[in-house]
Amino acid sequence: MPKHLRSLQEFTRAELIGFIDRAMELKKEQKAGQIHRQLAGKTIGLIFEKPSTRTRVSFESAMYGLGGQVIFLSARDTQLARSEPLKDMSRVMSRYVDGMVVRTFGQEVVEELADYATVPVINALTDVHHPCQVLSDMMTVIEMKGPLEALHVVWVGDGNNMANSWIQAAAVIGFELTLACPEGYEPDGDILAAARKIATRAINLVRDPQEAVRTADVINVDVWASMGMESEQEERLRVFSEYQLNSGLMAKAPAGCIVLHCLPAHRDEEITDEVLESKQCVAFDQAENKMHLHKAILEILLS
Ligand code: CP
Ligand code: NVA
Repeated sequence: MPKHLRSLQEFTRAELIGFIDRAMELKKEQKAGQIHRQLAGKTIGLIFEKPSTRTRVSFESAMYGLGGQVIFLSARDTQLARSEPLKDMSRVMSRYVDGMVVRTFGQEVVEELADYATVPVINALTDVHHPCQVLSDMMTVIEMKGPLEALHVVWVGDGNNMANSWIQAAAVIGFELTLACPEGYEPDGDILAAARKIATRAINLVRDPQEAVRTADVINVDVWASMGMESEQEERLRVFSEYQLNSGLMAKAPAGCIVLHCLPAHRDEEITDEVLESKQCVAFDQAENKMHLHKAILEILLS
């Protein structure tokens, strides 16, 4: 088992499924009223350079729910904001906490913190990956639709951090993934090539969202302009206009397919209010499962 959780392709299939299975057990135990204390005496530091509602609160709640403690650090309030080297920050933090959960811009920030840390470093979103989100989203898919291997997962929209993590998940777990992205907004070419090398099912890249959803069991959407891309918002509204998940696009998909959105959603941009609020959309189950999955990650990596 890798010490850090930087991206999904560093893990084996059994390890990724292990996180999900354990999260399902912890969820069941919590719902049955069981009190968990396996991380009592341990503390994690959350270092966040980008905003967050779900990831922050679900990690904090997960850690407290296992008996542990949390220190939240907005990066702008740390000496990182005054250019303290990451390698110093990482070694210092390692003396104070039992794990670091990091949300930042460059993937290289997570990599450098991990290189110098003596405690686990967990990627809570970078510009390139959002591995914890995709782990909990896979948990939601399995709960709703059964084993992933039998499913066709479809991504509609920007080839962003979420898309990259879905590509790595598809390769390691072994399920069919189709991404419909406009020209110039495809996922990372190196990540796609590396994933295809180990994939046992097709990872397809197409332009036409209607073609992509035709045999979908799961349709995933996300914002068109991710955090840090605010200046491209206007341009992206134009480029992605054909990629909105609305009732017209849903009509092209099988009736039993579910819709995933990691949230926050921009209603009537990437998804209409009607589809987001429909029975097929499981966005709020996804949001809940982040907490259960984060418990599993913390328990497994910190124990
Ligand atoms: N889905 C997700 O990561 O949400 P937050 O940005 O609110 O953490
Ligand atoms: N792709 C989005 C995900 C937000 C949880 C972003 O990076 O802003």
